Amino acid sequence: MEILRTATDLRQLDKWRSEDNWRSEQPLVLVPTMGALHPGHLSLVEAGAALGPVVVSIFVNPTQFGPGEDLDAYPRDLESDLAMLEPLGVKAVFAPSVTEMYGQPGEVTVQPGNRGQGLCGGDRPGHFSGVLTVVAKLLGLVRPDVAIFGRKDAQQCLVIRQMVEDLKIPVWLADGPTVREADGLAMSSRNRYLSEEQRLQALCLSRALHSAREMLVAGERNREKLQAALLAELSDADKMEYAEVRLVPDLEEPVAVSGTVLLAVAARVGPARLIDNLVLDLSSGGVKDGFLLGDPQRWSGK
Ligand code: PAJ
Repeated sequence: MEILRTATDLRQLDKWRSEDNWRSEQPLVLVPTMGALHPGHLSLVEAGAALGPVVVSIFVNPTQFGPGEDLDAYPRDLESDLAMLEPLGVKAVFAPSVTEMYGQPGEVTVQPGNRGQGLCGGDRPGHFSGVLTVVAKLLGLVRPDVAIFGRKDAQQCLVIRQMVEDLKIPVWLADGPTVREADGLAMSSRNRYLSEEQRLQALCLSRALHSAREMLVAGERNREKLQAALLAELSDADKMEYAEVRLVPDLEEPVAVSGTVLLAVAARVGPARLIDNLVLDLSSGGVKDGFLLGDPQRWSGK
């Protein structure tokens, strides 16, 4: 596993691509992360490795953190991240410095379109601009054929999809399901901020989603009733930030829900701002897990 630090180091990828043992039909896969890896991240790496050589980026991106957010406290542990990636057969880790990724003040940034308004975009102004700017840079630097993101950050998936479509970036996007602890808590690098008691309190997010899902299974399609069910469970959090039922991919607020829907919740528990969601496909009449980008298993070639 190579550790690449700079744009120049990354051109090593071009050398590999021209080598005989690189199977040309295999896609180069990028899995962007901010490190502090857990099984959720690793599941995306495994999905990528089933397609072709994987590059994992590890970069705590300062521009997606707002003033007063946890940029300084965000866990950084490259050694342990590398130890988790090595056994998965990752081809390279791209771990640049901030100065490698960001140059002069006044440089170009990417602004989200309509999908970046509301939800996390409302609570964290500037967040999605930071995400899109860094993802655009990573796609430009690595030039992957496929990039894989976690459905856990559903709105992030959808703003990235819109950027790739609108800016005509030649990459195929896929999303992997949310990996959870045995009790339902969505895995997150920020779960480390929680005390034992807060960790139990944090279960209200997945409980809220579960109860709204049950209502959908029972045939409920009224958005307000579903939202009320989400809100009721979130009263256990220290502060509810949002509890919403939206449509995929444009995040409209429907009166009656149909097609692929996003149940999305965010709340503060102790020092952590936690988010969780379910993406449910109602199109068959039943309730199935839905995708936001694409099923990694359905990559159909370059
Ligand atoms: P980070 O929070 O490190 O997450 C990296 C990727 O892992 C994202 O695509 C995220 O959705 C996914 N992920 C996180 N928790 C997950 C879980 N429990 N199950 C499955 N996937 C999970 O998201 C970011 O970093 C950044 O915004 C980034 C895209 C790297 C840009 O800086």
